[in-house]
Amino acid sequence: MPAGVFLNLHGKDRELVGLGSYIVNTTGCNDCHTYPSYMKGGDPFLGQAEVINFAQYMTGGRQFGPFTSANLTPDGTGKPAGLTLKEFIKTLHTGHNPHDPKGQILQVMPWPVFGKKTDRDLAAIYEYLRALPSLPNNPSPGP
Ligand code: HEC
Repeated sequence: MPAGVFLNLHGKDRELVGLGSYIVNTTGCNDCHTYPSYMKGGDPFLGQAEVINFAQYMTGGRQFGPFTSANLTPDGTGKPAGLTLKEFIKTLHTGHNPHDPKGQILQVMPWPVFGKKTDRDLAAIYEYLRALPSLPNNPSPGP
């Protein structure tokens, strides 16, 4: 888990949160769902000691042409990206966000790959995201 990110473990399954933290932080979610991914002076690609952008951790905002990565932090009701666990797993399996009125397939997002994870792994990702601080969408999106 990145330094500076404080988890709310109240009412969470700690074992799942631990597994979810491991998966999320070794599967590249940060590369696309945190923008910019690293703090100024903390970019490993520039040979600097890594400091993940904890202030915008998982708030989305990385733009890929017309597509912008989503805010994965819990909404006001505690649901990551506004999805229930069932909806989250379905989204990762099918690429469909059930709340999208147009029913479009998620682009750029590697759901065809991540959707092959076990339901337990996906539930662990969800439980970890559920423990993150609830933050508004990234106010300064960019490519
Ligand atoms: C290569 C970039 C990339 C990576 C890596 C990535 N995502 Fe995404 N993700 C996106 C983009 C872009 C979208 C929005 C796609 C769209 O709107 O069509 C998205 C959308 C989502 C959504 C749908 C949210 C919504 O409100 O519709 C979820 C859930 C999600 N990502 C979870 C994850 C998780 C969990 C990981 C790591 C295991 C991850 N993503 C890694 C780019 C990425």
